[in-house]
Amino acid sequence: MKNPKDQIEQLRSQLHEHNHNYYILSEPTISDFEFDSLMQQLIDLENQYPEYNDVNSPSKRVGSDINASFQQVEHSYPMLSLQNTYSHEEVSEFYNRVKRALNEDFEIVCELKFDGTSISLIYENGRLTRAITRGDGKEGDDVTDNVRTISSVPLLLRGDNVPEHIVFRGEILLPWSVFKQLNKEREQQNEPPFANPRNAASGTLKQLNPKIVASRKLDSYIYFMLGDVLPTGSHFENLKVASKWGLKVSKANKKCTSLQEVYEFLAHWDVERENLPVATDGVVLKVDSLQQQRNLGFTSKFPRWAIAYKFSAEQAITKLESVTYQVGRTGAVTPVANLEAVLLSGTTVRRASLYNEDAILALDLHIGDNVYVEKGGEIIPKITAVDKDARQPEGEKIIFATHCPACSAPLVRDEGESAHYCPNATGCPPQIKGRIEHFVSRKAMNITVGPETISLLFDNKLLHDVADLYDLTYSDLINLERWGETSTNNLLQSIEQSKSVSYERALFALGIRFVGETVAAKLAHAFPTINLLREATLEELMNVDEIGDRIAQSVVDFFNNENHLNVVNRLQSHGLHFALSDESLSSKTDKLEGKTIVISGVFSLHSRDEYKAMIIQHGGKNTGSISKKTDYILAGDNMGPAKLEKGEKLGVKIIDEQTFLKMIE
Ligand code: IVH
Repeated sequence: MKNPKDQIEQLRSQLHEHNHNYYILSEPTISDFEFDSLMQQLIDLENQYPEYNDVNSPSKRVGSDINASFQQVEHSYPMLSLQNTYSHEEVSEFYNRVKRALNEDFEIVCELKFDGTSISLIYENGRLTRAITRGDGKEGDDVTDNVRTISSVPLLLRGDNVPEHIVFRGEILLPWSVFKQLNKEREQQNEPPFANPRNAASGTLKQLNPKIVASRKLDSYIYFMLGDVLPTGSHFENLKVASKWGLKVSKANKKCTSLQEVYEFLAHWDVERENLPVATDGVVLKVDSLQQQRNLGFTSKFPRWAIAYKFSAEQAITKLESVTYQVGRTGAVTPVANLEAVLLSGTTVRRASLYNEDAILALDLHIGDNVYVEKGGEIIPKITAVDKDARQPEGEKIIFATHCPACSAPLVRDEGESAHYCPNATGCPPQIKGRIEHFVSRKAMNITVGPETISLLFDNKLLHDVADLYDLTYSDLINLERWGETSTNNLLQSIEQSKSVSYERALFALGIRFVGETVAAKLAHAFPTINLLREATLEELMNVDEIGDRIAQSVVDFFNNENHLNVVNRLQSHGLHFALSDESLSSKTDKLEGKTIVISGVFSLHSRDEYKAMIIQHGGKNTGSISKKTDYILAGDNMGPAKLEKGEKLGVKIIDEQTFLKMIE
């Protein structure tokens, strides 16, 4: 029998290999079941022998459940953007400019322009050590923990000849399929849908919870390599090497030797991109030779050796028939344009988002107008322009609704806000139903009841607020139209089960404005019972890490409202958990009370996330950057020299893993 260390290493290398086969080559050699069972063996062994912990273990891809706060990191090479062009003429101007400047033969690499969010990946001795977002181009957020969950980003490079230090630039993407599913779920939970996969990808990457990131199945493509020593003098060849090292490089990349070939690439992918699993918004053209790239250099903003050609967003003209308004659970009123059906990018469009009053005024919309609708990367089409010349004199100007379309209450628009609200929170049906839908949603109380049933119960006056759910009886339900014994018992059972949902989730379920899942958990830990939270002052709330004035004010407002207090009291009397569980409480100590700790470097005994959790659990505060307020730096291996220097200058105590663990023992 092998020793556990060897067993762990063997499993890790097998799993790295299978990940590569699956995510990079798309040629898995084992079944999902076999993969899962290897992974389980590894996880079991790692749990049994924590001394062999490794942040780059394939098991770490599942993401830990702890919140991370991002640290700002300087890019070793600035992250530039490209000049955009929109026509063949501009492409030909670029080509000729390069030709004149170089005055020798050159080749152009054509690549797809992936429409996600850019990332810089740093590998040291073949290990992924950092992933940084673009930020302002000079420095970005350290999102390493999140990027580690992306299956197509290798944690370890493959092959023997990997350089000591190498940087890759690429794009993180949310595939269309995941995007559509995600938006479906968000709508069910009354959260605003993401406008396009790009926003969803960058939103996901900035998620504080790596477990959520892991669940979103992000993808990646690498399009650039940087370092003191590079494998070859050709960009195209270097990307091929990157692909051998295990990074995902697009197979579409093509080296062209004439403008004609470039045009062919543009024409081919303008159509073919519809069949790709991820969003693209154009083509990037790059001079292949690195020496020629250096000779061409940069303008103040862009490289002279590359440009982006953007595909034109598909447009259609149709007629605006009417504007209607939707009311969400928070009372926000969103205008929707109802259009004469028109075909756009292969789907029939009947509605377009109009955002808010200002957007309508900016377009100067009238009923019957001929409007241009565009889809771009967006799923919900938008109106981009109006053909005013074709306007009919009888077409009435759109004036934003003054009263709620659902309950007729006069709408309000707060100073400095763009949205209109219906203030009738307790009497406006879509708001009431929306709040109940949110309350029962999977991540909240997880009660299995759909929007139609909620509507039915509301119409039958059985539900007016979320607490009414717990008053529902067998005879209430069995008498409903088309309801049988099974559906009645199932719903009652599901409601009963929901009483065991944790305080954190119950707090999220209440639907306090700006209090999402993460914030709810934060608040629950800072105020371990709802009575404490209810008594909390604005100031006490704002003292909680990451709670700003907007959230704090919203919590205060919520508990200042008689109706809300009444609902919370009733929920409490029904036995919902409104206190942190003993389990969460008992492992808590105040050994690090008042201490601010920065974590830096690579650790061997526990993961970074585990250390973060320990700090919070023992009453300390974990922050990203070193300042006068920092008490300790918990330092692992390879801590950055800049940090070390700053810590020493400010006289911050630097402690290692063992010392830290002793402190909380
Ligand atoms: S090259 C100096 N290649 O488009 C070279 N960029 O404005 C910099 N992008 O922010 C970028 N696909 O995030 C390059 N094949 C590709 C790309 C690509 C997408 C993004 C990138 C950058 C933006 C350019």
